[in-house]
Amino acid sequence: MKIFIFAALLALAVAKNFRVKKDNKTCALLSLDGNLELTASQNASQVGKEDLPFSGATLIADSTCKLIKLNLSKSAQVWFQFDNDQQNWKVTPVSTFIPEQVFGDAVNDTTALVLNAKPLEVFPMTSSYLCKSSAQLNFVPRTEPKDYNFTVTATINNFQIQSLNAESFSTKEKECVADTKPKDYECKSGNKTVIMMEGNFTLDISYFKEEGGKVQNVTKTIIVPAPENATTEGSCDVKATTQSLSIKFFDTWAINFVFTKKDSSYSVTNTSVVYTFDDNLPGHNETGSVTVNFAFSNDYLKASADGYYICNAYLNNTKNGVTLSSKNFKYRAFDENGKGFEGNVSECSADEDTSSVVPIAVGAALAGLVVIVLIAYLIGRKRTRKTGYESV
Ligand SMILES: *[C@@H]1O[C@H](CO)[C@@H](O)[C@H](O)[C@H]1NC(C)=O
Ligand SMILES: *[C@@H]1O[C@H](CO)[C@@H](O)[C@H](O)[C@H]1NC(C)=O
Ligand SMILES: *[C@@H]1O[C@H](CO)[C@@H](O)[C@H](O)[C@H]1NC(C)=O
Ligand SMILES: *[C@@H]1O[C@H](CO)[C@@H](O)[C@H](O)[C@H]1NC(C)=O
Ligand SMILES: *[C@@H]1O[C@H](CO)[C@@H](O)[C@H](O)[C@H]1NC(C)=O
Ligand SMILES: *[C@@H]1O[C@H](CO)[C@@H](O)[C@H](O)[C@H]1NC(C)=O
Ligand SMILES: *[C@@H]1O[C@H](CO)[C@@H](O)[C@H](O)[C@H]1NC(C)=O
Ligand SMILES: *[C@@H]1O[C@H](CO)[C@@H](O)[C@H](O)[C@H]1NC(C)=O
Ligand SMILES: *[C@@H]1O[C@H](CO)[C@@H](O)[C@H](O)[C@H]1NC(C)=O
Ligand SMILES: *[C@@H]1O[C@H](CO)[C@@H](O)[C@H](O)[C@H]1NC(C)=O
Ligand SMILES: *[C@@H]1O[C@H](CO)[C@@H](O)[C@H](O)[C@H]1NC(C)=O
Ligand SMILES: *[C@@H]1O[C@H](CO)[C@@H](O)[C@H](O)[C@H]1NC(C)=O
Repeated sequence: MKIFIFAALLALAVAKNFRVKKDNKTCALLSLDGNLELTASQNASQVGKEDLPFSGATLIADSTCKLIKLNLSKSAQVWFQFDNDQQNWKVTPVSTFIPEQVFGDAVNDTTALVLNAKPLEVFPMTSSYLCKSSAQLNFVPRTEPKDYNFTVTATINNFQIQSLNAESFSTKEKECVADTKPKDYECKSGNKTVIMMEGNFTLDISYFKEEGGKVQNVTKTIIVPAPENATTEGSCDVKATTQSLSIKFFDTWAINFVFTKKDSSYSVTNTSVVYTFDDNLPGHNETGSVTVNFAFSNDYLKASADGYYICNAYLNNTKNGVTLSSKNFKYRAFDENGKGFEGNVSECSADEDTSSVVPIAVGAALAGLVVIVLIAYLIGRKRTRKTGYESV
């Protein structure tokens, strides 16, 4: 059922394509999904709201190779205007609409409003611009309207645009910054990713909290930011036998890992947590930073040199009132050949226990089937005996 719903959602999320032609040749292409949300307010109270999906948009006939105009319903339009910026395109999103036609009688205003959003990142004229990540375009009126305030925001996903004589999108794509943000905590040596780590980390920190004149020993759970919202640094020379990775967040906080290679395997030999008494620990009565070191024996999170380590179950380490936990943890270090998460997998024992559930279930089902067939056979044999037919 879950899979079915997921598939249905995927099908809905297929981007809509638009094609501008000149002399029967395609000269501009646009693909996107998402919606345009418009609200009208007067004296700080909302008087109208509309949500128009791009899936219902059509290309306006007077679009040109340098101005793609989309018609959403109710007179609302979204344009993408191409301007030269040396060898690049600068694309400015524009929105225009007639308030009364969008919001109905509640908004008594029939003058067309024109609004601009910030230009997209510039991209070479010979490329397309691609942004799969969700982005918001906030449109601001060119001239402030008198009687109403409007907010116009487009949420766009799977966006791709180009202005170039071509039937399809150029294979040269300029990816948006959001798409190129790392999905992993990683360390690169040159252009090689030598350490890769994934996981959902939390810190449970116990500290003294002052509130209403009382001081209490409390525990605060901190969710460590995902790779795109953290800074990752490391030391990962391919030839070294010790490498390290630091996940830095909240300006001064960090989780550090030290990896050591030995013969045909590597492992985590040291992890440390650095936290600061700051706004993330409200009501703290102390100041400064604290470092907690977890030193491990050589085999902790041990992986084969030609593979990686995985532990989907919780991995928790507690010391000095700090618990570092991970879930869906995965890492590889000393990756000289850029294999990433490929090759020999080393799993934590907790995962092996859960992954044996499936084989046991399959085995039980097969055993059950054998019993049923046997019973059916025996009953069948009894019946054939009774009817006098020859038995096999
Ligand atoms: C475009 O193609 C149509 C039919 O495919 C043809 O009738 C028309 O003359 C063409 N126009 C140009 C400018 O080539
Ligand atoms: C529009 O918003 C501004 C600032 O929030 C406010 O000062 C102004 O009164 C609003 N105008 C109307 C017509 O609601
Ligand atoms: C909004 O405020 C202005 C002046 O403050 C007033 O003249 C107008 O009637 C108000 N409009 C509504 C819809 O309340
Ligand atoms: C936009 O579409 C509407 C129908 O949904 C149509 O009435 C209107 O003329 C179109 N506008 C333009 C500029 O094509
Ligand atoms: C709309 O505004 C015009 C002029 O500003 C006015 O004559 C008309 O009565 C208004 N209509 C409504 C429904 O408020
Ligand atoms: C990485 O850099 C080396 C030289 O520094 C180059 O030969 C190689 O093609 C690069 N690999 C990739 C995937 O860019
Ligand atoms: C868990 O980690 C994965 C991989 O880093 C990330 O994609 C996902 O968003 C995280 N989930 C939460 C709830 O943080
Ligand atoms: C709070 O209490 C727990 C358990 O009693 C202890 O482990 C922890 O060190 C205490 N925290 C502080 C800041 O003293
Ligand atoms: C990164 O931070 C932004 C802003 O706080 C948030 O909207 C986004 O969900 C975060 N990304 C992840 C993967 O947690
Ligand atoms: C914080 O409060 C605890 C418990 O009352 C106390 O032991 C500790 O000395 C206080 N720390 C500071 C810096 O005042
Ligand atoms: C663990 O690493 C920290 C720095 O990350 C270091 O200060 C500490 O000495 C190391 N501990 C051990 C036992 O190696
Ligand atoms: C590990 O930590 C997580 C979250 O902090 C917690 O839900 C889980 O119960 C802990 N597991 C063990 C075995 O302590």
